[in-house]
Amino acid sequence: MEIFAHRGASGNYPENTIAAFKEAARLPIYGVEFDVHMTLDGELVVIHDETIDRTSNGTGYVKDILLKDLKKYDFGSWFLSNFQDETIPTLNEVLDIFHLTEHKLNIELKSDIFPYEGMVSKVLDLIAERQMEPRVIISSFDHTAVQFVKQLNPRIETAALFMEVLVHPLDYLRKIPADALHILFPAAIRPSIAEVIKSGMPVRTFTVNDETYAMTLKQAGVQAMFTDYPEKMFTSLSSK
Ligand code: G3P
Ligand code: MG
Repeated sequence: MEIFAHRGASGNYPENTIAAFKEAARLPIYGVEFDVHMTLDGELVVIHDETIDRTSNGTGYVKDILLKDLKKYDFGSWFLSNFQDETIPTLNEVLDIFHLTEHKLNIELKSDIFPYEGMVSKVLDLIAERQMEPRVIISSFDHTAVQFVKQLNPRIETAALFMEVLVHPLDYLRKIPADALHILFPAAIRPSIAEVIKSGMPVRTFTVNDETYAMTLKQAGVQAMFTDYPEKMFTSLSSK
């Protein structure tokens, strides 16, 4: 089963920081997942929430702050004081870390709350410039963004994200269209998902930090999982 480090190695390092990504880059895992928002000056930054309140010593919406001002905040101490020098990474800085590795990069576009005008084109331009197209999967809860990615560049692999228990997901996924289904763990083992697995479309599940759940998913034919503890999960699954 393929393992993706969720928000970097976020169980032991502050999520979506350079420290979390350097740890993920060191591991012999399949890939890494991270979340992208856009600043007031249109820069792409890697952070999970719409605001910086939970993961920094600042407050406010990413969309209302310039990159140079965002860079002044500490994005590590909320997790552990040793990480006080972590700043918010740009997408470019994260891609730099994985430039010479072979990890798949799952870029999650967080445009489901704020639409972030122009974000899809900016992300695709950056990936094209860096010739990273074959290594990237773009996912989102914003399925209009998933649809737009395919319209702009059909070569990029896409995935639609879901939290819910789904009815006939294959019809909907083909309609978007999306290349893969990324779904919350409990919903992934419902019968409707077996239909997607049977069709050959990749199903990937978040967020799996329990080794017993990982085995259940593997047996169900789930292709990959996102975990906050990639090293522990890699060791556990390799020994089975
Ligand atoms: O992309 C998988 C997972 O990260 C989706 O949920 O909230 O952790 O971004 P979230
Ligand atoms: Mg995510």
